[in-house]
Amino acid sequence: AAYEAGDHESFMHKEMLEQPAAAARALSGRLDERFGTAHLGGLNMDARETRAIRRVKILGCGSAYYVGQMGAALVEELARIPADAEAASEFRYRDPVIEADTLYVAVSQSGETIDTLLAVQEIRRKGGRVVGLVNVVGSAIARECDGGIYLHAGPEVAVASTKALTNMFLGFALLALQLGRVRDLSIADGRRLINGLTRIPAQIQEILDDEAAIAAVAEQLSEAESVFFVGRVRGFPVAREGAQKFKEISYRHAEAYQTSELKHGPLALISPAVPTVAIVPDDELTDRNVGALHEIAARRGPLVVITHEGVDLGEVDCVRIDVPRNERELDPVLLVVPLQLLAFHAAQRLGHDIDKPRNLAKSVTVE
Ligand code: AGP
Repeated sequence: AAYEAGDHESFMHKEMLEQPAAAARALSGRLDERFGTAHLGGLNMDARETRAIRRVKILGCGSAYYVGQMGAALVEELARIPADAEAASEFRYRDPVIEADTLYVAVSQSGETIDTLLAVQEIRRKGGRVVGLVNVVGSAIARECDGGIYLHAGPEVAVASTKALTNMFLGFALLALQLGRVRDLSIADGRRLINGLTRIPAQIQEILDDEAAIAAVAEQLSEAESVFFVGRVRGFPVAREGAQKFKEISYRHAEAYQTSELKHGPLALISPAVPTVAIVPDDELTDRNVGALHEIAARRGPLVVITHEGVDLGEVDCVRIDVPRNERELDPVLLVVPLQLLAFHAAQRLGHDIDKPRNLAKSVTVE
């Protein structure tokens, strides 16, 4: 059957609302409760090869790169393997050193993004091993990789990616879990994460059920010429993705920053005309993040805080959006959902073509 927006005003809206079902598909048949691990048959790596990995390097473009940063954090936290993400569009231009004991991961919804494809070719030409986290089955990147994890998000039409990104995050969580369990991650921790993963589809639904309240916040944000998105450590790629989505479809200037870096420069820009969307999960950094909220409020910067129920934000004047709690490592996938809704409703309020924003293509297949 043809894939159509149906009753939805746009594909983006339909795709955001499909996330609970899409997330369930990403996990389906891949979780092993008994051994507290994940099974990703398509990786084409045995336990010996998996144990030999000394580093993980993730490559993607745009939002896929930001989810790659979330993925690198998961790999470091769960598998304790040094990991980082890099923009695939820059990678091959610095004549990168390719190492045999590094696992390269290419991440792409379309599987056709030329910059990511050329990065894969560069790695393979130099003898490296690449696995793909790809949504479109049989796409160019999927075919070029040594192995891979299909995302099973289903077709995604809107230029602003939503459900594919959610499934990329889950793909990284499964990869990190599998890598972790052949190394030092305990079975108890493995089971704890499996339990968290299985709760995610319903928790995304809970956030989507708050759409009307989040839309009201978006209407206020749409009036600003410029919006900051700030977060720290796990929250920083979330902020980057939030800013990306906001600028893509609302055409408003949006800038992502590490909350910790505000005082090293950009705090000068905070004023009643420049709102900040702050990511403040309940984690090791909550107190420090709350301190930064007070600094922003003292400059009369309007604040929207994405946080967890029960987090004490002090007396700070802000609009608060609570997301459900999960295991800390998995928080980013939930924190990002309100940011999709903020961007969507800001753009809708401004009357923009949500699915086909100006100057952008769904996949960038020429350099
Ligand atoms: C996401 O909202 C963007 N449209 C864009 O950054 C996108 O994620 C990027 O171009 C990569 O696309 P891909 O996942 O198909 O490779």
